[in-house]
Amino acid sequence: MAEKLAVVTGASTGLGRILARLAAEDGHDLVICADEAEIAAARELKGIGVSVESHVADLATRDGIETFWRAIADREIDLFFANAGRALGHAFHDQDWDAVRHRIDLNVLQTTMLLHRMGRKMHARGAGRILVTGSIGGFVPGPYDAVYNATKAYLDSLVYALQDEWRDSPVTLTCLMPGPTETPIFHRESNDLEDTPIADSDSKDDPEKVARAGYKALMKGKRGVVPGWGSKLATMLAELVPQDLPAAVHKRGAKPSSDDPA
Ligand SMILES: NC(=O)c1ccc[n+]([C@@H]2O[C@H](COP(=O)([O-])OP(=O)(O)OC[C@H]3O[C@@H](n4cnc5c(N)ncnc54)[C@H](OP(=O)(O)O)[C@@H]3O)[C@@H](O)[C@H]2O)c1
Repeated sequence: MAEKLAVVTGASTGLGRILARLAAEDGHDLVICADEAEIAAARELKGIGVSVESHVADLATRDGIETFWRAIADREIDLFFANAGRALGHAFHDQDWDAVRHRIDLNVLQTTMLLHRMGRKMHARGAGRILVTGSIGGFVPGPYDAVYNATKAYLDSLVYALQDEWRDSPVTLTCLMPGPTETPIFHRESNDLEDTPIADSDSKDDPEKVARAGYKALMKGKRGVVPGWGSKLATMLAELVPQDLPAAVHKRGAKPSSDDPA
């Protein structure tokens, strides 16, 4: 057993899996959570030599959040990675309402609820570091993934507001804002992004570099990090030009090929 504990949501694949590995390599025991029946990542992480406790919980539900929270509420947590999230492609009016609601419940409600509880807990202890996985999508309107980008705009904004409230606090809060990064998010059937230019593109960022940038920023107590020069440039331009320009760029990557006239 290590003396430090990290909690990671969405640790089964992609960025969360790498963030969990980086925390373990840095000597943290892990409590990880995802929605899969078996978190295969747990086996890989145990190989690093720390203790790994994995929980299967659907964090898009209140029951899932409560179950997960009960598992961690009594421990002293050094690092919290609020990372679980899902996208939802296609035009808004073509999306299934339950799927839309699920993304809002998972990306917005769940993250806010766990941040609220974890924030209180860490403040009571007087220590702790939190990394929220937002997105550069939060800076631009996202045609053909509109609700997802809106959920990330909410998270980016929430984190920056809390950083101001916690300015003099020993608890740090960092926002990781990746651009398009090569993870399973683009290829999960339920995310409905497979038939899009961005899913096919081979210019997406390397998830290892993105997660490392997030971990480094977290440990330095930085307010936010946008990994990669392409994404940095995109966020700078998004603040300078009218919103319909970045929206048009987003649409080029996110509009399903099947929606284009033959
Ligand atoms: N990849 C990108 O281009 C990109 C860019 C900006 C931001 N992000 C953000 O990065 C974060 C990680 O995404 P990723 O790219 O690494 O994609 P990913 O590989 O699809 O990872 C998503 C993780 O969230 C978990 N998850 C999804 N729904 C859940 C639920 N209902 N309850 C509990 N866990 C759930 C997944 O677990 P299961 O496998 O068990 O479902 C998985 O571990 C997300 O917040 C995403 O929005 C990604």
